[in-house]
Amino acid sequence: MRLSLRFVLPLLLILAAIAYVVAPLVDELTLRWSLRDLDARSTVIAKAVEEPLEDALVTGSSNKIMTFFSRISQDERLYAIGYCATPQAKLQATRSVPAEIRCNDLERWNAPRGSVLHLPKGPLHVAVRPLVGETHPEGRLILVQDMNFLERRSQETRRYLFYFFLGLAAAVSLITVIIAQLSWRGWVAGTRALLRGEGLLRQPVTSPPAPPKASEIVPPAPEFRPIARDLQRLIRDLEAERAARDESQLTWAPETLRAILHGELRGEDVIVVSNREPYIHQRKGDHIEVQRPASGLVTALEPIMRACSGVWIATGTGSADRDVVDTRDRVAVPPDKPAYQLRRVWMTPEEEAGYYYGFSNEGLWPLCHIAHVRPIFRSGDWAHYVAANRKFADAVVSESKTRDPIVLVQDYHFALLPRMIREALPDATVITFWHIPWPNPESFAICPWAADIVSGLLGSSILGFHTQYHVNNFVDTVDRLIEARVDREAFTVSQGGKLTAVRRYPISIAWPPSEEMVGKPVADCRSHIRELNGLPPDQAIGVGVDRLDYTKGILERFLAVERLFDLNPQWIGRFTFIQIAAPSRASIDDYRNHHDAVVALAERINARFSGAAPAILLKVEHHEPWQVYEYYRAAELCFVGSLHDGMNLVAKEFVASRDDERGVLVLSQFTGASRELPESVVVNPYDVDQCAAALHVALTMPEQEQADRMRLMRGLIAEFNVYRWAGRMLLDAALMRRRSKLPDTPVGNTGAPPAVPTPSPT
Ligand code: F6P
Repeated sequence: MRLSLRFVLPLLLILAAIAYVVAPLVDELTLRWSLRDLDARSTVIAKAVEEPLEDALVTGSSNKIMTFFSRISQDERLYAIGYCATPQAKLQATRSVPAEIRCNDLERWNAPRGSVLHLPKGPLHVAVRPLVGETHPEGRLILVQDMNFLERRSQETRRYLFYFFLGLAAAVSLITVIIAQLSWRGWVAGTRALLRGEGLLRQPVTSPPAPPKASEIVPPAPEFRPIARDLQRLIRDLEAERAARDESQLTWAPETLRAILHGELRGEDVIVVSNREPYIHQRKGDHIEVQRPASGLVTALEPIMRACSGVWIATGTGSADRDVVDTRDRVAVPPDKPAYQLRRVWMTPEEEAGYYYGFSNEGLWPLCHIAHVRPIFRSGDWAHYVAANRKFADAVVSESKTRDPIVLVQDYHFALLPRMIREALPDATVITFWHIPWPNPESFAICPWAADIVSGLLGSSILGFHTQYHVNNFVDTVDRLIEARVDREAFTVSQGGKLTAVRRYPISIAWPPSEEMVGKPVADCRSHIRELNGLPPDQAIGVGVDRLDYTKGILERFLAVERLFDLNPQWIGRFTFIQIAAPSRASIDDYRNHHDAVVALAERINARFSGAAPAILLKVEHHEPWQVYEYYRAAELCFVGSLHDGMNLVAKEFVASRDDERGVLVLSQFTGASRELPESVVVNPYDVDQCAAALHVALTMPEQEQADRMRLMRGLIAEFNVYRWAGRMLLDAALMRRRSKLPDTPVGNTGAPPAVPTPSPT
């Protein structure tokens, strides 16, 4: 009798606490968070559509406005969108707009966090935003978002809470019973072991506890083991479920990634494959120097590997690379605080010429970028490309400790690798990310091996691109070139019974930036950079930071500086544009010619405006990341002028570097970054006059406006940082993995993860 009381009493108490305290509290909190999120989301969408809507209004075409609206409202949560020119005007809106919303009583919806409209099919969030443009001063944008997800979210949270507390209550009750049977000493030892094992109550996903050292782990007493196992499993499931269900409420940090890996993916090792290595060992006289290459890919992946550990497989290119590896061609990096293994793969000069310079960079690179350089395809280069992919596939197999590793394949150097991995390790989860644009099917079909490349990529479980436009282009290319089932609603491709989810995952940078990058005060950076370059202390500075590549628009940028001086001569001698150009792919003719053209143009412009200070300072040399950040922090503006670019992380780095909220980003509209950073000064790099005007605007922008723009851009990068980029792909991969392990997949169930939230609504 006493025993059953000990068991039942705590159980009843905890259940009562759930019903009367926890559940209502959770509901209230969920609603409050969701309203705040929806309202913030409305503001972001309104900001993003403002400019295109203004254009459509100026041309006065209501068809254009409606087409524009229907395109935006394809977002699954945006229920309807509408526009009122004046309170008397007729509402122009998507068909789904509720009848309750009319232009003449918009005030009704104008509450501080938006208003909730209850309809029989569910609640809707309504927000009204003014249009800032001058053409329609009374113009109002109405954004209606579906809130049905809220109910689902609440129900799920309640359900999991219920199970969690039920499990906890059962465990507590059981423990109480067992305690009664054990001696006091045995109880203490057992409890200690239980807590040390892995901990019963783990901390939230944003800050997991440091793992105990192996020597400190004492296994729980035998009588506690089944309970410990069950509780740990329950807690792990709950954590994983919560991470997958509501990632938008997570703080994305290295710990979040680790928690996903250890929770969702059950502690799997990650293998990254890229051509470019994150650390290059170079022999300088009698000592070895470690270099960090100029590469967006490395900038993004390195913090991920520091967080996750595992192995990064890449081509060894440094003159001392072979001297520092072990017998398995591995070296632990970062050199000052090793966190993961770098496994080097060696290429002969012939292989490098064919695979890297030839097929990758004379073929695929110009093919995928609209920069008007003709791609060159040679069958000898293709043979090397196939062989190099095979070599990396062998390295992946030799590095994987399990039959089902998670492999992150990076970029256009490895289009064939996903399928090769799948053939060797059918249970592997292959996540491929294509860092550069994907052209339309007509352009891609130029490549004689287009079908092999597409088919190779479809060996991936998930294939990611920076923008929806590139996702669409890829899916169109599949449709055009090979036999496969394409699902345009779920964005999946199925070939030979194997499914690939093709998704948009906009890449980003680590946030917050490290002390090494932003530790030096801005005032010191300003004076040091001017002194270093022989410039007067009050000289205005613009910076460009790129690899010396024809897609980066360096020539166009110099022409814009020249035009600035023609149109606004007051800047001559007072403004200097510093272009950092990392030497790149110099064995290729087009790159050598481009280098010569860039040098010649800088010299010509400097000769024209030879004043107290040079117009252009061209620095064709390698700079370490901390040196680049010093330039960012010293400059009045950063000019990213790519003619075509997948994302461009220089733009995001510049914003991250400006914790003083000063400086202006001038950004090419042909970068993926321009879709996420509309608060930059967006330009067409081919339009020299427009770029010159943008430079003048940037140089004369009031400090308050600089701060307002910078704050918005910093907010976006903080939220959509690189941990979220990787975490989102890993969560999707985990979901696919779980689904693939289910015994029967019903016909029509794709097994692909649902679409993910992304930073920009356009
Ligand atoms: O981001 C595109 C990219 O080609 C990466 O793949 C690469 O690491 C980087 O630019 C630099 O190019 P490379 O590795 O050829 O020097």
